[in-house]
Amino acid sequence: MNNSTVSRREFLQASAVAGTFLAASSLMDPEAAEAEMAAGAAEPVKFGMIGIGMQGSGLMTNALELPGIKCIGAADLYDGRHTLAKEIANDPNLFTTRHYEQLLENKDIQCIVAAVPDHWHKQVVVDAVSAGKDIYCEKPMSHSVADGLAMVAAGKKTGQIIQIGSQRVSSIICAKAKEMIASGMLGDLMMVEGTMGRNDPNGAWEYPLPTDLSPQTVDWDKWQGTVPKRDFDGKIFARWRCWKEYGTGVAGDLIVHLISGMMFMVGINEPPKRASTFANILRWKDGRNMPDVHLTLFEYGQIPIYIRLNLGTETPEVYRIMGSKGILEVTEFGLRFDPQPGIDVSPSYYSGGFPKAMREEYVKQWHAENDAAVEKTMTAASTVLRAPDYDDVKPHLLNFFNAVRTRKPVVEDVVFGHHAALACHMANESYFRHSAVVWDEKTNTIKNA
Ligand SMILES: NC(=O)c1ccc[n+]([C@@H]2O[C@H](COP(=O)([O-])OP(=O)(O)OC[C@H]3O[C@@H](n4cnc5c(N)ncnc54)[C@H](O)[C@@H]3O)[C@@H](O)[C@H]2O)c1
Repeated sequence: MNNSTVSRREFLQASAVAGTFLAASSLMDPEAAEAEMAAGAAEPVKFGMIGIGMQGSGLMTNALELPGIKCIGAADLYDGRHTLAKEIANDPNLFTTRHYEQLLENKDIQCIVAAVPDHWHKQVVVDAVSAGKDIYCEKPMSHSVADGLAMVAAGKKTGQIIQIGSQRVSSIICAKAKEMIASGMLGDLMMVEGTMGRNDPNGAWEYPLPTDLSPQTVDWDKWQGTVPKRDFDGKIFARWRCWKEYGTGVAGDLIVHLISGMMFMVGINEPPKRASTFANILRWKDGRNMPDVHLTLFEYGQIPIYIRLNLGTETPEVYRIMGSKGILEVTEFGLRFDPQPGIDVSPSYYSGGFPKAMREEYVKQWHAENDAAVEKTMTAASTVLRAPDYDDVKPHLLNFFNAVRTRKPVVEDVVFGHHAALACHMANESYFRHSAVVWDEKTNTIKNA
């Protein structure tokens, strides 16, 4: 067994040296891409930040740690996040506003990084590209099928760059798995399993509320967007994932990561043909209307893809990609391939039902015909690669900023993002309709199976 713990670059080099895989591209190597960005960037890429909450604060911090990137301004509907944006930028004079439209009017801003709740993704993306800005928008790309279609249309019409923020697509681990699958190491693909679980209130979205939240510090009316208006509710502001009116549940929050990574590794860029969900609210009965345990069986082409999410038991985040020549396990920090011979390695147990003389003759002949092939399988080694402390957010942002500068395509464009989000919408629709659902590409709608 090859078992190693290596740095990001060594991870790529080790694989290349083994000669089994394709050469590492600069896309897979964040250090090389950073160098490329720094070398080519006489002028910094200037971005505006929309939404500086839990994810936006991390994105803004990561973006500002990249070479040749400058933040010109930040917009959020909650004033506390104006203070936070200034703190992240280490600039008390950073322009901040409640109105993201002001960032879109600013000619100095080339692109937008947006981390607003799901029910705002469509409007922000459509407005940004219509104003001539490129945009990095968080996952899941859309809040509904209709939103996704409008976003794809706006991307097509304007030609602006849109990168969706499912960062597994920029993971060197997923890139390595992709190479291994494409090389045929797994043989015929049989099925894929993706699973993760959490077991704590934070993991189930019961976040602490900022202490100064009020209708004075938040533009609550605008925050609600096109959703029917209700009185100010800090819980909804912070824990919006729990309600389908604003979020997309476990499907859009977590399944989308497993789906995007799976699509990238296996080489799929289409919606599932069919989805069948079993889900429920079993643990977090706090008034939410989105399930906390969610199992969906998808059909992509002819391949079954099974995704399992559980907010009531912690389990590791893992993919098991199964083929006729072995099983590839992909986790957040590495991967492991265990080859399987796919042949009999001993005489059949069915011969136990043969009379003695017949059985002995069968066993003798079996060994004469098969021992050499069995011997060969014994030397097939497992492959284990690890990438400790690997964070794929920065390379994903870098890929976007490089695209803004060079106009080269991004790794996760609006069409890919749409397809990944459709899987989540189908997973949710199957739960709400108590029925398997199919994607009807003629009408661009989800129908009961
Ligand atoms: N890629 C990942 O791993 C990852 C992780 C966490 C969250 N996310 C995604 O990031 C997005 C944001 O999630 P979050 O947890 O940061 O939410 P959050 O509630 O912590 O922050 C969202 C912020 O957006 C602001 N906002 C809402 N509407 C706005 C508007 N119209 N204009 C300006 N500001 C507006 C809110 O005031 C809030 O401060 C979601 O789509 C989520 O799915 C992605």
